[in-house]
Amino acid sequence: MCGIVGYVGKRPIVNTLLNGLKRLEYRGYDSAGIAILKESQIKVIKRTGKVDALREAVDKVSFSQNENELSIGIAHTRWATHGAPTEKNAHPHLDEKGNFALVHNGIIENYASLKEHLIGKGHKFVSETDTEVIVHLISELYEGDFLKAVAASLKQLSGTYGIAVISKAHPDTIIAARKGSPIIIGVGNDEMIVASDVSALISYTRKVIYLDDGDIAVLRAEEVDIRNIDIIPVTRELAHIDWDANAAEKGGYEHFMIKEIFEQPEAITNGTRGRLNFEDGSSVLSGLGYSSRELASISNVIIAACGTSYNAGLVGEYYFEDIADLPTEVAQAAEFRYRNPIIRPDTLVLAISQSGETADTLAAVREGKNKGAVVAGICNIVGSTIARETGVGVYLHAGPEIGVASTKAFTCQVIVLLMMALKLGRAKRFSRQRGIEIIEEIIKTPDIVREVLKRAKDIQKIAKKYAKAENAFYIGRGYLYPVALEGALKLKEISYIHAEGYHAAELKHGPIALLEERVPVIALANDIPGKDKMISNIQECKARKSPIIATATEGDTEIASMVNDVIWIPKCSQFIAPIPTVVALQLFSYYVAKERGCSIDQPRNLAKSVTVE
Ligand code: M6R
Repeated sequence: MCGIVGYVGKRPIVNTLLNGLKRLEYRGYDSAGIAILKESQIKVIKRTGKVDALREAVDKVSFSQNENELSIGIAHTRWATHGAPTEKNAHPHLDEKGNFALVHNGIIENYASLKEHLIGKGHKFVSETDTEVIVHLISELYEGDFLKAVAASLKQLSGTYGIAVISKAHPDTIIAARKGSPIIIGVGNDEMIVASDVSALISYTRKVIYLDDGDIAVLRAEEVDIRNIDIIPVTRELAHIDWDANAAEKGGYEHFMIKEIFEQPEAITNGTRGRLNFEDGSSVLSGLGYSSRELASISNVIIAACGTSYNAGLVGEYYFEDIADLPTEVAQAAEFRYRNPIIRPDTLVLAISQSGETADTLAAVREGKNKGAVVAGICNIVGSTIARETGVGVYLHAGPEIGVASTKAFTCQVIVLLMMALKLGRAKRFSRQRGIEIIEEIIKTPDIVREVLKRAKDIQKIAKKYAKAENAFYIGRGYLYPVALEGALKLKEISYIHAEGYHAAELKHGPIALLEERVPVIALANDIPGKDKMISNIQECKARKSPIIATATEGDTEIASMVNDVIWIPKCSQFIAPIPTVVALQLFSYYVAKERGCSIDQPRNLAKSVTVE
């Protein structure tokens, strides 16, 4: 999510680090910082905002560097998870004696208990981040051996990390390590560059080493020494990168959208990490901030959102009704304040917004607050306006979404809504056993999505076949009805094909008049409640000569025999089915748009964040 760069060699350190950060800026941009080790001092400069703001601040300080002098430093651009995007929370973080500086990507789940332990030992913390505990831990465990102190600290962490650390006492060494968050080492001639992403190092070297989870790398200008967590040497291959800088930013993918579609298993893992409680069959959503008693007293929910977030809200409506027993309404955020919604003091107004900046959703938050509702948010961007104004809520932890078409935000919103319904349901009548069953399914979801992604080529073939259509319908029932809406939205926004999503039963109340052989129907016919009726709806469409593309549960020969093309979805319950099914539809839209030569990441007339009414 955030970006890391570190360098040891003889290049001008400031420019090397800042140029690397600039290439990583697309990953996170709420604050940035550098730490440079010179003459036994670590100099840190941080700024909120973009890398240019940091460059301006750094330009005012003189970092003299003689030719051929060894230079060493680390830098970071942040996408906030723990703590608001402020200068104090920006990386690098120092231990209190200023002996070590560290940058970190990932989430440390047990940071609260470690922090308490370190405070007990006299450490003073200055930030709200989970990261700061790592550098304090290293300083606490340091007895003269840098590597040993880092390894011993990492052993105490649970969660994920990609880190780079420097030490005053070891002015020629960077230590980098990885568990769950990528770290790559660029091997140059008498120089090493470490980064979280190849795009930051590609202009310096094309020889790289990818660290594996559990690896710790000790970098000096002329050598890299890789160990495991027990400090036993391990061998990693040297790879050659032949992407250009642009492709590197997209991780080798052609567009951000397809990269983000493929990131979904990891995004879901990040969004659920540390939030599932097997013991209670419930979820741990500390940002919600309400006690079980307060949650149990909520009488109804109004979800306010726009676009894709609205469609995720519609899935949430099913969850809240089925799991939490709560009457739920999904409101177009744009209309919310112009209606007279019935809001009681025990009504939960839940605003969903990836960006956290959508003007209409923000207005709904303010309206909910004015009317005395309990207000909460589901946002991706930490510290965004909606996140701040709601004050309580749940972050997606999906990582930055650059493509205008929302993909991983939708699946993470759905999974957060499921966890939220579980928490509200467990505060009321939903049994522990059923809660455990849902948790087991949530845990399997990333793998289910991976299975769909493996079929991308099959979906591409189907997409090619229908890429010339000018109209299309998506139909679904039950939990797949909102997915039909989202599938149609995705297709129209990036391929400019006119597509409509309908409840399968609604089709015959008007839109069926438009069906004919040039109008494909995408029927969501997975084997979940509603499938039997969907079979009749498919027949109705076939009778009007529309070609049918169905999503169906693996091995469902009944559906396969009645449609033109099938996109197979692994077996899963109705609670999870929206997620793999929408991933298949995202791929379908992407490949149709690609075939039509559309501008996929920046479709015409659209903006990533709609901050006007
Ligand atoms: O940032 P938000 O989730 O509030 O944005 C809402 C919509 O503008 C957004 O979902 C839009 O519909 C996307 N382009 C859909 O892909």
